[in-house]
Amino acid sequence: MAISRIHPLFLLLLLLLRAFALLPTQAAARGGHDLSDDGDHGSVSRNLLQDKPHITEEMTRGYMSNAELETAVHAFGSRCSNISRVYSIGKSVNDFPLLVIEISDKPRQREAEPAFKFIGNVHGDEPVGREVLMHLANWLCDNYLKDPLATLIVENMHLHILPTMNPDGFALRWRGNANNIDLNRDFPDQFFSVNNDINYRQPETRAIMNWVKQEHFTASASLHGGALVANYPWDGTKDTGKRYYGCPDDKTFRHMASVYSQSHYNMSLSKEFEGGITNGALWYPIYGGMQDWNYIHGGCFELTLEISDTKWPKAAELSVIWEHNRMSMLNLLASLIKSGVHGRIFAADTGRPIPGSVTIKGIDSKVRASRTFGDYHRIIVPGEKYEVMASMEGFRPKSTRIVLEQEAVNLDFILEPDGADGQMKLLRNDYGCRCGSGMMFHVEEAHIWLYLLVLCVVLTLYLVFKRKTASRLLAYRYSPRRPVAV
Ligand SMILES: *[C@@H]1O[C@H](CO)[C@@H](O)[C@H](O)[C@H]1NC(C)=O
Ligand SMILES: *[C@@H]1O[C@H](CO)[C@@H](O)[C@H](O)[C@H]1NC(C)=O
Ligand SMILES: [Zn+2]
Repeated sequence: MAISRIHPLFLLLLLLLRAFALLPTQAAARGGHDLSDDGDHGSVSRNLLQDKPHITEEMTRGYMSNAELETAVHAFGSRCSNISRVYSIGKSVNDFPLLVIEISDKPRQREAEPAFKFIGNVHGDEPVGREVLMHLANWLCDNYLKDPLATLIVENMHLHILPTMNPDGFALRWRGNANNIDLNRDFPDQFFSVNNDINYRQPETRAIMNWVKQEHFTASASLHGGALVANYPWDGTKDTGKRYYGCPDDKTFRHMASVYSQSHYNMSLSKEFEGGITNGALWYPIYGGMQDWNYIHGGCFELTLEISDTKWPKAAELSVIWEHNRMSMLNLLASLIKSGVHGRIFAADTGRPIPGSVTIKGIDSKVRASRTFGDYHRIIVPGEKYEVMASMEGFRPKSTRIVLEQEAVNLDFILEPDGADGQMKLLRNDYGCRCGSGMMFHVEEAHIWLYLLVLCVVLTLYLVFKRKTASRLLAYRYSPRRPVAV
């Protein structure tokens, strides 16, 4: 955003801070042994290394290799060419394309419809998701115009499937990417700023961030293995404590997670997680995760789905696991169409659609409307009354009360332009996400010297406590308090 308005000295200080913050991280990323000089945390990291299960040739038998997956994606693209498109969002460290299948009746066009993304294989050693996602794509193609759910999904939304976010980690049979960085700790975090510069992110992370900026995703889910539970934000707490920490849309997220778990073969019967769902920070706090970033910076409601107790079940079990997850996936997708509040925002003077944003009274979050059609898609718990407000800088906001039954509600807004300059700042759309590295620069020039002073103090304190802070953060980045990280 307004980087140009920021004093250069301030930028220099930020860069200095970041440089210090990055040093220990990179050292650890190169092997983890570097931590062993640090008392408690050294032993934690050693245990984690020992815990890493050896993945044998036998375990991987029957799973698609990266080359086979790439072939399967292109084969799908030609077999189902009239309802799909295959495209790449970038490349992994080792130059493997990150291929996406888009499924829709108009795959090459933008439409005023919700968009959803599924991401598999975030962790290289959790391969079930990539297999299940290919089953999902093929099932939709085979059942379009035969099964009502398949038809509903193909015709009323745009589904984007990235079977593997981490092909290199898969090939290496380990969790991180080729640089051994855990991609689900590599996103900018709301509490700890070590990750805030997009230029320092791993190529896989950067690809996702740019993708979210370009597409107008309503919701998404990433697939993991090692547990059976639907996990929702927040993933971390401000003070790193392990406890329930709900985001402004906590009710919405619990609803979404329950749609998944209740439609699953047996996720909701979990003994470890009530109803088969969990708040991330309550389970174990993580920082730099993908789901919180999506919600904050993409206005995209993302779940983290753990879909099998074992990370490498026998390949013969994959089709059973797909069957267990099929209705969950379909119902989650269909819920975006069949419930919630949908509509478009127009300017009264020109009649043109405008990319405003929509808020619900009592919930401190915004979803933005698309640039092309001004369409918005607000997931919200059915069976309640809401006051829905649309706003856009330069226009007078407007709000309406609705009763949301089980069905979706359609609600268009026509906003009157407002000449008054004062409105502009108030209504700035934070989810506009021209963010990247700009997201931490919400600073008014007038306050620059105050910030500078505070930063000097922070920098001094930081240097003094550098070792301590870094090791604590690292402990959270690399060693969740669960014996197996999922
Ligand atoms: C795709 O092809 C099938 C089979 O030829 C046809 O029935 C269907 O109408 C087509 N769908 C679209 C969206 O063009
Ligand atoms: C769900 O079913 C699978 C396969 O039958 C089984 O291994 C797993 O323990 C079950 N989990 C729960 C929570 O019932
Ligand atoms: Zn995982």
